[in-house]
Amino acid sequence: MKILDMPCTKGFMQIAQDGVDKGWHEMNGGNLSYRLTDAETKNVKAVCKKPASGWTELGESVPKLAGAFFMVTRTTGYMRNVKRTPEQAFGIVELDPTGTKYRIWWGLSDGGRPTSEFPSHLKNHEVKMLQDPANRVIYHAHPVNLIAMTFIVPLKDKDFSRALWQIMTECPVIFPKGVGVVPWMVPGKGEIAQATSKLMEKYDIVVWAHHGLFCAGTTFDRAFGLMDTVEKSAEIYMKVAATGKKRLSTITDAGIRKIIKAFGLKDFTTKFLR
Ligand code: 13P
Ligand code: ZN
Repeated sequence: MKILDMPCTKGFMQIAQDGVDKGWHEMNGGNLSYRLTDAETKNVKAVCKKPASGWTELGESVPKLAGAFFMVTRTTGYMRNVKRTPEQAFGIVELDPTGTKYRIWWGLSDGGRPTSEFPSHLKNHEVKMLQDPANRVIYHAHPVNLIAMTFIVPLKDKDFSRALWQIMTECPVIFPKGVGVVPWMVPGKGEIAQATSKLMEKYDIVVWAHHGLFCAGTTFDRAFGLMDTVEKSAEIYMKVAATGKKRLSTITDAGIRKIIKAFGLKDFTTKFLR
């Protein structure tokens, strides 16, 4: 099957476009990666026949992902071009047997390289794959209201999770574990990759203060859905905050406890409630 006809390629292009339509990807903001299945990898090898580049250092070590194939967006590439000019805007790469190098099989044409956040993506993939091999998607975006929230909510997992849960009834159900928060750091480096993947051991959603959000999912739909839900809650939070008025009511901790019971949310982080 042609690379562009593979369902995973179509899903990859669609989520990128959906994020653009939401306004989450100014300039080259945000990036996306997907770990291919064995059958998809076999197809890529059959269609491409041989790699399109030599090995390049990743600048990170992910031994558990040795030999895995990833679809990944291009650094400095625009998400709005993922659907328009796919072969330039993203590519398929293979990791070497030590998990420290990659080579290109398809795409990233004209000298393209994977996103500068590839170290963060890969460290997150490693953690998530070990938790459940069905986890395949890591999605990073710059949603405006979520970023705005990081200026007025304490940068603590507990405060951020509770603030989001209190805003929209579905939030405790959709992300019962809560969200992790990484304080402001220089992006694209090992330090932020380490901090993010550490939090991914506990959560599927990690906030980067004054920068954006990382979501992990088994499918493109799930990763997108988490991003969308958090950003919607953040939008309501910011709209309420912008009125400058005192809240007359909110979803209380007692109310959230009732939701936990009603939905049987076994993996709920109750210690974030008061
Ligand atoms: P890239 O263009 O390298 O993907 O970087 C965009 C971004 O959002 C950095 O955090
Ligand atoms: Zn970013």
